[in-house]
Order: sequence, then structure tokens, then C-alpha cells
Amino acid sequence: MYGDYLDLAVRAARAAGEIQRSYFRGGDLMIRTKSNPSDVVTRADRESEEAIARMIASRYPDHALLGEEGGDRGSAASEWRWVVDPLDGTTNYSQGLPVFAVSIALRHCGETVAGAVDAPWLDELYTAVKGGGAWLHRGADAPRRLHVGGKERLATSVLGTGFPYDKDVDPDNNSDNLARILPHVRDIRRMGAAAYDLCCIASGTLDGYWELALHEWDVCAGELIVREAGGVIHPLREGRGVSIAAGNRAIVQEMLKYIR
Ligand code: IPD
Ligand code: CA
Ligand code: CA
Repeated sequence: MYGDYLDLAVRAARAAGEIQRSYFRGGDLMIRTKSNPSDVVTRADRESEEAIARMIASRYPDHALLGEEGGDRGSAASEWRWVVDPLDGTTNYSQGLPVFAVSIALRHCGETVAGAVDAPWLDELYTAVKGGGAWLHRGADAPRRLHVGGKERLATSVLGTGFPYDKDVDPDNNSDNLARILPHVRDIRRMGAAAYDLCCIASGTLDGYWELALHEWDVCAGELIVREAGGVIHPLREGRGVSIAAGNRAIVQEMLKYIR
């Protein structure tokens, strides 16, 4: 039912991924800072979003679009709204680290119905449509249906997390959660791309993930992919942007003993 929308999301994500591959580890990234020195943007972020927005507008001129770099475009009255993080993991990207992704989701009347997360350097494309399961596409391999991991104890679990860009001015920076949960887990990873973290939950390569102060564009596609892989998304503290925990139901319940 939503397959045509997903096809467009995948084509747009692949086009943005090509732009990112073309500049990656090169000398002409044009790295600039936004809100503070931790918050960087490159020409690949901007050019990726323009390419995605152009492709969506030419196919669905009546749809609205929210992008991290360009903000809101199109009619606010539209039932259809694309939510785009053109390059998730810009810090990694600007350092030459390979974990970065394009995240494109479509909402219909507020509900996410399709999502694609493409990690171009890793050659991993994650997709979901509402009710259709979550899938990993790699190279010429047949698509693989994803399921969240089955662990139930933190002691054997590897969790992902992250730290907000405004950590210089807001002491509510996730270090309290980290200090409480660290003694109880096998290990912690800071992958550097929230959309990719959520895809790792869907594929079971991470057992749990939590983060504070994210934005809609970081999580919109990834949350659908987690749910379609049988996982849960649990809201964390209110008033700190989009703050979530993700994993299978049992691990999320265990995580909630230590994080909030
Ligand atoms: C960031 C990444 C990072 C997370 C930050 C996000 P960006 O997105 O997802 O992992 O910790 O909160 O803002 O800026 O690279 O698109
Ligand atoms: Ca992001
Ligand atoms: Ca981004």
C-alpha cells in the first residue's frame, strides 16, 4: 500500500548517499559550525537535503517536508509530511568515520507509514512500511527480514547512546544515566548516528539504545524500523526534545531501572 512512497524514499536516500560518498574523506567538505563548536554541518548535508527535497517535490508537489537543514517546506495543511535527516552522523562524516546515514520517513496524518535509512559507506539500507516488517538490503544479497535481539539481561547486553549538542550549556547531558547504567551492562557504544543506532536495534546488533534531546528527523524512520522489527520505543524524560529508549520489551524494562 505504501510501496510507491518507500520506493521514492529509497531512490532519494541512494541519491543523497552518492553525494556523501563523493565527498567522504576528501578535502572539500566545507565544514561549518551551527549552534556551537560541537554542532557541525558540511556541504554534503546541504546538497543531500536539496537533492532529496527536489526528488520528493517533483513526484509529490502537494506533500509537506521537514528537513534538518532547510526546515519546513510545502503546505502545512497537507496530510502527507516527509521527515528528512539528510546526513545523520555529521560529526563522524567530518572526521572520516564511516558510520553515517540518510534518514527519510513519510508521515500520513501524523502516523509514520514508510521509512528508509541508508548508510552508504557501510552499504546497508534499512527499510520499513507500516505493517510490512523491517528489512535490510545489502549489495546484491536478497533482502533480509529483521528482528530485534532476544536478550533479557543487561549483564550480557551492549547498549548504544549519545550526548546532546547543547552539553556546553545544559547540564542535563545524559552523563547521569550513563553513570547509573554502566556498571550493569556488558558495554556501551556511542555510534554517532541516531538513525543508525535504531537500525542496529532492529537488526539485533545493539540490544538497547537510549538518547535524550533528539529531533523528529533523527528518529522518525528508525522508530518505524524498530517497531516493524518487533521492538518497542519508550519515551524518556519530558521537556528534553525527543528522548527515547529502544530495544526488545524486556531490555527496555531493565534499562528503565537506571535511565530516565
Ligand atoms: C546527531 C547524531 C548523533 C546524536 C545527535 C544528533 P546529526 O545527528 O544522530 O548520534 O547523538 O544528537 O543530533 O547532527 O549528525 O544529524
Ligand atoms: Ca541527526
Ligand atoms: Ca543531520
